[in-house]
Amino acid sequence: MTVEDLAARFPADFVWGAATASYQIEGAAKEGGRTPSIWDTFSAKPGAVLDGDTGEVATDHYHRMTEDVALMSELGLRAYRFSIAWPRVQPGAKGPANQAGVDFYSRLVDTLLGKGIQPVATLYHWDLPQELEDAGGWPNRETALRFGEYAALIGRALGDRVSVWTTLNEPWCTAFLGYGSGIHAPGRTEPAAALAAAHHLNLAHGLALQALRTEVGTDLTTSVTLNVHHVRPASQDPADVDAARRIDGIGNRVFLGPMLSGAYPEDLFRDTASITDWSFVHDGDTAAAHSGGIDVLGVNYYTPTVVAKWTGSGAKPVDTNHGITAGSPWLIDADIEFPEQPLPVTDMGWPVDPTGLRDLLLRLSGDYPGLAMMITENGAAYPDDSRPAGPLADDDRIAYLEGHIGAVADARDAGADVRGYFVWSLLDNFEWSYGYRKRFGIVHVDYPTGTRSWKDSARWYQRLLTAAAR
Ligand code: FCB
Repeated sequence: MTVEDLAARFPADFVWGAATASYQIEGAAKEGGRTPSIWDTFSAKPGAVLDGDTGEVATDHYHRMTEDVALMSELGLRAYRFSIAWPRVQPGAKGPANQAGVDFYSRLVDTLLGKGIQPVATLYHWDLPQELEDAGGWPNRETALRFGEYAALIGRALGDRVSVWTTLNEPWCTAFLGYGSGIHAPGRTEPAAALAAAHHLNLAHGLALQALRTEVGTDLTTSVTLNVHHVRPASQDPADVDAARRIDGIGNRVFLGPMLSGAYPEDLFRDTASITDWSFVHDGDTAAAHSGGIDVLGVNYYTPTVVAKWTGSGAKPVDTNHGITAGSPWLIDADIEFPEQPLPVTDMGWPVDPTGLRDLLLRLSGDYPGLAMMITENGAAYPDDSRPAGPLADDDRIAYLEGHIGAVADARDAGADVRGYFVWSLLDNFEWSYGYRKRFGIVHVDYPTGTRSWKDSARWYQRLLTAAAR
């Protein structure tokens, strides 16, 4: 399909963008008064991140912000999704705003607006101030209350110019990879703490909505970004269907329930009864987590999740894609497995299946009638640096993007209200526990010089956006 034909499947006001996250691109970890986040601490631990990589320099976006916004403008982006580093704007998560930190984001926002690019700000993309983790982290209720204060502080500083606000990025990863399997910061493997973290993230989300409405006013678009897992049972065998229900509960409905409907699903309580009694949920918490709901749900999608009841014997096979190694983020997976899908995979080992994105969007619009959505992340890592034709000839990434953007159009045609698409990612960056080995950018970053070069996928996206603007 030509880019013109693909672009023609979307309305004129569809929001085309690209996404990044503070810790993955900014660097300047010790500059401008920023204090350490849990990712600074975690990545300094031997063995936590591949090759011992850290975000200390990353893509040096902190110093190259103007150059990067110029790049976005040349690409033709209508919107840019970035995240704010809490320890940069409120060091140690205490006290008033740190002016140098706020100034950085303020300059970013002004530069974007000057180029006609809409800023889409995420309050939290995993870089929790270390002091809050020292006090217990997300399993501690106080963290949610502090998040509400931080949301008010940054809303006051940027709310006059930023109108689209996303509270949290992928709280599932924060709770279950950070406190369950421990493959993300802070690296804890405490199942009950992971569930408490999930609850406090729900509460934090609602408190941030309240704070933003107070500080920014009602003329704002509120959102949260979830990595809603598209869970498919491996067969229609009731045991597989039930396994899929359980993964959907702990993967999706644990957040969708409180945030979109103001209640936890009962089956989640039953499934996790051996881990916790959920007594950390206080009266009024789920209503606070809901707080009137959001205007648009951010959906991050990379690959579908196929689930079966595990019927093997002996030790369960290792499945690094789903964290089934030492600990598991799913907590309840003792008799659940994730069968291999016979599909091509990306450099992450993630099966490529655009129909998963279409089906996920249709499932969400079926479950939550009238729900507006935007794809806040979608993209692919490929081993660009080992390509015979050089790192910039990324036809595989173009095929991935074309397939998935087509799937968004299919979902829209079938009635899903999807209003935007943000490619992950603008730049190659620090891919969490994989360090710099995995490249998701449509723009190549040479480490350590920081030189940016357009991959073919960036040129392809530019052509699509040009066609969409006609
Ligand atoms: C998502 C994260 C994002 C990036 C992509 C590949 O889970 O939100 O930061 O790492 O995966």
